[in-house]
Amino acid sequence: MSDASEEEFEVPQLYKRHVFACFTQRPPTHPRGSCGANGAQPLWDRLGKLVEADGSGEIGFTAAGCMGFCSAGPLMVVYPEGIWYRPTTPEDVDEIYSSHLKGGKRVDRLVMILTR
Ligand code: FES
Repeated sequence: MSDASEEEFEVPQLYKRHVFACFTQRPPTHPRGSCGANGAQPLWDRLGKLVEADGSGEIGFTAAGCMGFCSAGPLMVVYPEGIWYRPTTPEDVDEIYSSHLKGGKRVDRLVMILTR
């Protein structure tokens, strides 16, 4: 007899891919830096418009707070893969959108490798 609490079950996912983008803005002279101070806002505006225009409902886009690696920003994470990206240009955002978010293919040149 199996214990019902140990049975495997599949949790339905709301999105095919879900982006969390850091919107934290600190003053430019703050010692920790910030994604905002590193130019995140126009990039996230662009990505948000792409996701909205897509209209499929398969891609989630969430404004996140600080993710702890501030001076490395602008930072965003794509789930379910858990890939951290550091886009710096509108073209980078476009490539992450078309290749990874829509096509499922990671953009290796923009992956942010984080180590503890
Ligand atoms: S401000 Fe973006 S990770 Fe801390």
